[in-house]
Amino acid sequence: MRILIAGASSALGHATASALLDAGHDVIAVGSSADRLGLVDATGRFECDLTDLAAVEQLAAEVGELDGLLHLVGGWRGGGGLAGQSDDDWAWLEARVVGTLRNTTRAFAEAIGRSDAGVIAIISSTGVEKPTAGNANYVALKAAAEAWLAAVGHALRATPARTVVHRVKALVSDAERAAQPDREFAGFTDVTELAATLAAEFAAPAPGSANGG
Ligand SMILES: NC(=O)c1ccc[n+]([C@@H]2O[C@H](COP(=O)([O-])OP(=O)(O)OC[C@H]3O[C@@H](n4cnc5c(N)ncnc54)[C@H](OP(=O)(O)O)[C@@H]3O)[C@@H](O)[C@H]2O)c1
Repeated sequence: MRILIAGASSALGHATASALLDAGHDVIAVGSSADRLGLVDATGRFECDLTDLAAVEQLAAEVGELDGLLHLVGGWRGGGGLAGQSDDDWAWLEARVVGTLRNTTRAFAEAIGRSDAGVIAIISSTGVEKPTAGNANYVALKAAAEAWLAAVGHALRATPARTVVHRVKALVSDAERAAQPDREFAGFTDVTELAATLAAEFAAPAPGSANGG
């Protein structure tokens, strides 16, 4: 299958690209820095600012047919209770957490709807289940991203395509473990394990994850 990773140059992006390639898929890696993308194992690499809808539409025209979109663009800002939830942080988070998801799904959903087994997946946060004041901007926008993806599922309801949300508390990579050998990273999800879970979405649909009406 042909799968695009939006935000492919993070540790999770690297691990996911490798897992998909190992499973025999074509991987299109997208990020805002060609230098960082150059380090990602992929079938194709596209530098694109995913906050820019016109740029994403141009990307979609170049990419063509697609079976999967894995949206991994992240980022975190927060702290300091409600008083610390600044407008600047909200705007920064909104552009990345929601804006890049809105742009990529609007540009790629139609192609994914034409696939026999399309998948659009995002990584959300367990914080949406128990919002805190210091994390208010972030969790509100993660909840918005989940709602947007549900609406994408509605748009694709007449197709075989599925939308998938995986919630994690925090991610950890081997490099982070090596840098802090005494830290436990309790409750963290290993990027290699999450990458395997994401790759498995293209092998066997999870029960109950088909789009509702
Ligand atoms: N890290 C955690 O602990 C954690 C916790 C809960 C949920 N999550 C979620 O898990 C997913 C992955 O998280 P992460 O920490 O690996 O994310 P990340 O480190 O923030 O990585 C973001 C990726 O998106 C790319 N990117 C950022 N802005 C972009 C833009 N404007 N256009 C194109 N690409 C852009 C970055 O690469 P370039 O800068 O090279 O473009 C990078 O590859 C995210 O959805 C995140 O919200 C993460």
